Amino acid sequence: MDLSGTTALITGAAHRVGRGIAVALAAAGCDVVLHYHSSAGAAEETADEIRALGRRVTLAGADLSDPAGPPALFEAAGGAGPVRVLVNSAAVFPEDTLADVTPDGLRRTLETNLAAPVFLTQAFAGALPKDAAGAVVNVTDWRTARPYPDHFSYTVAKGALDTFTVAAAEALAPRIRVNAVALGAILPPPGKPSSYLKTLAKEIPLRRVGDPGLVGDAVVSLVRNDFITGETLRLDGGAHLR
Ligand SMILES: NC(=O)c1ccc[n+]([C@@H]2O[C@H](COP(=O)([O-])OP(=O)(O)OC[C@H]3O[C@@H](n4cnc5c(N)ncnc54)[C@H](OP(=O)(O)O)[C@@H]3O)[C@@H](O)[C@H]2O)c1
Repeated sequence: MDLSGTTALITGAAHRVGRGIAVALAAAGCDVVLHYHSSAGAAEETADEIRALGRRVTLAGADLSDPAGPPALFEAAGGAGPVRVLVNSAAVFPEDTLADVTPDGLRRTLETNLAAPVFLTQAFAGALPKDAAGAVVNVTDWRTARPYPDHFSYTVAKGALDTFTVAAAEALAPRIRVNAVALGAILPPPGKPSSYLKTLAKEIPLRRVGDPGLVGDAVVSLVRNDFITGETLRLDGGAHLR
């Protein structure tokens, strides 16, 4: 898929991993619809970085834990021209377990990490011009194959996102491809020190952690390569091998 002049919508793109994806897609030639929730200031900074690459940016705020969020976001994105690439990166990472998860906590996590990607993909497929090809990339986590004892609702939601990736790839072929990147240690969770990842790195076969630029590169290659659908690319330094 030729990305030059196409429009990409990236959720949770104000900073951290989502920012790396948005900047990589912009560097590959996409205009960007940059979604954010609470990080309006960081979203402005990332938008400036994308403009400096010569691409157009539309900022779109939405709360994706609210069922009204995905349709409102997609409607706002529509003003930027037909969206040909959708990257579902926004997520929450609550510290819950099976023992203490609450109905409201589970609902919020499923709404943000699963329902928002589902309904954004639905809106994306509905709005894509009939003669155009499109690509969706979901950002998931290699640990769905080997769940954490904590982060229970997160892991359950990302596991369902893995299944959604395959189901949507089947449902939307041949015009729309749907793939995923399953991340390992890229950045410490918000509020945790960088030493958090240094400890983790010792257990990773490649003995180091990733960075948002590597995730951006992987997303760009999945979007560009139009013979790949229903695939999940692990960026985890080989963590899944252990
Ligand atoms: N960091 C890692 O090493 C790692 C590892 C495995 C998987 N991942 C996955 O990679 C993706 C990005 O990771 P990250 O560490 O950069 O994530 P993050 O900083 O924890 O959050 C990503 C974005 O999600 C948005 N978000 C949270 N709640 C939202 C809501 N209710 N409505 C709309 N947006 C909301 C936030 O937007 P605002 O800041 O604007 O509120 C935030 O920028 C996530 O899907 C994560 O699960 C990351």
